Amino acid sequence: MTFSKLSTKQKKIFRWCYGDKYNAIICDGAVRSGKTVCMVASFILWAMRCFNSATFGICGKTVRSAERNIIIPLQSIADITHYFRISYSRSANLLTVEGNGVRNYFFVFGGKDESSYMLIQGITLSGVLFDEVALMPRSFVEQAITRTLSVQGAKLWFNCNPDTPNHWFYTEWVKKAEERGALHLHFLMSDNPILTPEQLANADKQFTGVFHDRYIKGLWVSAEGVIYKQFADSPELYVIDTVPDDILFCTIGFDFGGNGSAHAGICTGFSKRFGKVVALDEYYRKEVITPTALEDDVTAFIRRCQARFNVYEAYFDNAETTLLRGIKCKCAEEHIPVEVKNAKKTEIIGRIRLTNMIMSQMRFLVMSGCKNFIGALSTAVWDSKSLTEDVRLDDGNYNIDSLDAFEYSIEPFMKDIIDLR
Ligand SMILES: Nc1ncnc2c1ncn2[C@@H]1O[C@H](COP(=O)(O)OP(=O)(O)OP(=O)(O)O)[C@@H](O)[C@H]1O
Ligand SMILES: [Mg+2]
Repeated sequence: MTFSKLSTKQKKIFRWCYGDKYNAIICDGAVRSGKTVCMVASFILWAMRCFNSATFGICGKTVRSAERNIIIPLQSIADITHYFRISYSRSANLLTVEGNGVRNYFFVFGGKDESSYMLIQGITLSGVLFDEVALMPRSFVEQAITRTLSVQGAKLWFNCNPDTPNHWFYTEWVKKAEERGALHLHFLMSDNPILTPEQLANADKQFTGVFHDRYIKGLWVSAEGVIYKQFADSPELYVIDTVPDDILFCTIGFDFGGNGSAHAGICTGFSKRFGKVVALDEYYRKEVITPTALEDDVTAFIRRCQARFNVYEAYFDNAETTLLRGIKCKCAEEHIPVEVKNAKKTEIIGRIRLTNMIMSQMRFLVMSGCKNFIGALSTAVWDSKSLTEDVRLDDGNYNIDSLDAFEYSIEPFMKDIIDLR
């Protein structure tokens, strides 16, 4: 890629670092607004102009995500590759940039990788770029900043999408930008000059509620009230009585109960290229039952779904390994052709965002017979007591189990569902 044009805010990313006024820059705000690409290009150009034989840090949530979001795109930015030779060693997580008689080293760190935390201790850095800083542990970020304190002219580069207003990065950096000598730029999608009005309108439809406020408006706001607002407001838009005729295959998600929570299962169908995601059938049982009775119920539910749909895989809450082993044995004994797998159990916030997205895009449907799941979607609320993290209220009065079961059934395809064009 080349930067054919830059927006006014993007230009500031390329200029701020050559004066004495600021020692850090913070770019927060909307997704796809052109923060990362400009920051990384500006970071490399600044490092090559102001230092030689120096070492820098490029940090992502994990080393792998930094490689994907920063290192790979960087290697295709013509405005950099035209002037500098860039080589990346994956085994050493080291990017070397050479040109104009200058050579500098950029180590890639992952804020959430234990090994990065160990490696960064003791190193001296002339500058650090933190991509998606709000997703990194505070202790890692502070350790990385400490590594720059002995270098004259060292500068820090932060970018992120907003989170809750109680997040440490918001209270400690965004709100204190001035006193910390940091330039704060707030980005909206309209600050990315390559997005067309149509792309902007499409993106606007991808998110609702708190996700819209954060990822489109770029605001640091708390998650409050009902989680699936568009569903709760108009369930009739999503609840259907007839199974769509374009369902290609289905998966089952199952959450084991106990301690007052229910055993819940959902059978979810997918149409071509994951265009439609439809909750087709459910299992729900709140009372305490023996493991044998549960095995019988689960296998009966799988059989019932297989009698109507193509179900090849079932994803189970992996906390209960003895139960899972029992179910695996029973499926094998009874020749039930299903792969029993552990649920991936990805971060809950990511799963909620996914469900909200397919609701906003009208790609989500639920059969009217799934009464417990419909009730769960209509009533789920954010936990107002949780100040620093987004948490779904789970005080025994809400049916979180059906939501978990549904999410286990769709999360293996999260990327495919998001990537639909
Ligand atoms: N001035 C520009 N010229 C050409 N392409 C651009 C420009 N600004 C942004 N882009 C492209 O727009 C896309 C989004 O940019 P980028 O990934 O930097 O956004 P971001 O703000 O970091 O988004 P997110 O918050 O989702 O990480 C990328 O494909 C990037 O290459
Ligand atoms: Mg980015």
